[in-house]
Amino acid sequence: MSYETLLVTIEDRIAIITINRPDKRNALNATVRHEIIAALDAVRDDDGVRVVVFTGAGDKAFIAGADIAEFAERTPTEQRAAMTGRRIFDEIAAFPKPVLAMINGFALGGGCELALSCDVRVAARSARFGQPEVRLGLIPGGGATQRLPRLVGHGAALRLILSGDIIDATEAHRIGLVDELVDDTALRTRTLELARTLAAHSPLALRLAKAAVETAAEVPLGAGLAHERELFMTAFSSEDRVEGVTAFRQKRQPEFRGR
Ligand code: COA
Repeated sequence: MSYETLLVTIEDRIAIITINRPDKRNALNATVRHEIIAALDAVRDDDGVRVVVFTGAGDKAFIAGADIAEFAERTPTEQRAAMTGRRIFDEIAAFPKPVLAMINGFALGGGCELALSCDVRVAARSARFGQPEVRLGLIPGGGATQRLPRLVGHGAALRLILSGDIIDATEAHRIGLVDELVDDTALRTRTLELARTLAAHSPLALRLAKAAVETAAEVPLGAGLAHERELFMTAFSSEDRVEGVTAFRQKRQPEFRGR
């Protein structure tokens, strides 16, 4: 499948989706959003893909946010229509395979929100983060008011969202917005190393683990623990559990099939 605004490669069971509008700092226009959903659909049921990695083309930006040129052109009715239906942020958060953000530059507005929707954020030291919507008379609309406080806490989230300030990757790592901070030259190697680690695990176990952790943000503790127990039993009843435990006892690497 070929795309106008994305580069998609699949290697070692890892799909790398690169937003490819470096001249516009990989800003998310309607075509990019549409193509991200198409690319996720293409790899969702592909047994040859176990992990998805998002990154941005060029050395300046991961994603510099929503395409501001579109904001300038749209009426409120058109904007509402654009925000209805399938949305990239929710599709990524609910994706049944692990999704990593490989953050190589500015992750602003919708770009920071896309990273927030991913399961793990690996960032280069030169990356920058922010929710600058207030500077445009807007507020975040891709999930930051909900996902950012859950990740970094109420105060740190409000500081970013109310100030519109852009912070460096060290600060983002300190507040928990970045999970792994690496030298710029090591970003790709380290992210793909992590992706390969995940790709070797049971796809079923990863899907269940992601679903269990997603539940934590939504339900009271008791209900979350009950849900975890049910998902644990699903894993326990799987062929992959038999393979994993057998391989450990036989001192060999397991071969998981996702069943
Ligand atoms: N939407 C549309 N176009 C964008 C964009 C965005 N979010 N971010 C950058 N661009 C475009 C610029 O308009 C410029 O286009 P042009 O060459 O046709 O004039 C091009 O990308 C390069 O941008 P420039 O500002 O010159 O690059 P820079 O490296 O000096 O700065 C940023 C990079 C990301 C700091 C800066 O572009 C920026 O602040 N962008 C807006 C970020 C933002 O507010 N995002 C939230 C939107 S809700």
